[in-house]
Amino acid sequence: MQIIAFISGKGGVGKSTLTANIAMALSQRGKRVLVVDLDPQNTQRFHLGMDPDEIAGLVREGITPSSIFESPFGMKFIPFGRVNDAELHEFASVLKKNPNWVANGIDSLADEFDFIFLDTPPGPTVYLQQALRAANRALVILLADAASFATIPKIIELVEQYTAGRPEFVRMSLLINQMPTRGRLGHQVRDAIFSNHDEQVVPVVVHKDERVTEALAFERPVLEYYPGCKASLDIQYVTDWIIDTVE
Ligand SMILES: Nc1ncnc2c1ncn2[C@@H]1O[C@H](COP(=O)(O)OP(=O)(O)OP(=O)(O)O)[C@@H](O)[C@H]1O
Ligand SMILES: [Mg+2]
Repeated sequence: MQIIAFISGKGGVGKSTLTANIAMALSQRGKRVLVVDLDPQNTQRFHLGMDPDEIAGLVREGITPSSIFESPFGMKFIPFGRVNDAELHEFASVLKKNPNWVANGIDSLADEFDFIFLDTPPGPTVYLQQALRAANRALVILLADAASFATIPKIIELVEQYTAGRPEFVRMSLLINQMPTRGRLGHQVRDAIFSNHDEQVVPVVVHKDERVTEALAFERPVLEYYPGCKASLDIQYVTDWIIDTVE
């Protein structure tokens, strides 16, 4: 069983999109996949086809069999849940007191899944900390731009800090998303990422593709909305890479 945290230094890079789509690609290959939304924005439900009026989630129910929803796209799913400011505040203090709250919840479900994906908010948060204490791999999502490039040392440092002393944590990998098909700058940054972090970069990039945004507008994974588009094909290659490096 693999527990993969999807993380980033910068927001809006595509963590939630890739969590949902790689989860779907693995489900299509017969893997049992659980997606856990650890982001208070509670947006993973838009990717995974959940009833918008649903308020349940891990804040109120915990990470337990009874908080699992079945997504129409093949995977199982635990949403963050819709909560007010007071509940969020209270939950954050529970997490601060118990750094293994997520890890313990996931432990109780581990036998039922081949992969558990943790979607996180950007930057250093208590949610990132919890995710990295539960995960055995981290996938850092990056854009091929200067701002993302600049966040790499910091996020590597955070991963090292939060996973220190946990031999179960196997590796951190960097995945470039929204790679432009044209323009020199993107290619220069991509080359710099590959040459500076050769050992850690996923050897496939996910291209920028407007079908991804369109799919989200229809509240579906792009793999379902347009399985043959460029981004969907890239996501299939990333999924191959994940399976190859795990087995
Ligand atoms: N490969 C891609 N091509 C085009 N658009 C993309 C691609 N990947 C993600 N996007 C778009 O980028 C936006 C941000 O994506 P997403 O919400 O997945 O990012 P995030 O990292 O989870 O953001 P946050 O940090 O707020 O959680 C969305 O509009 C999404 O459709
Ligand atoms: Mg997100």
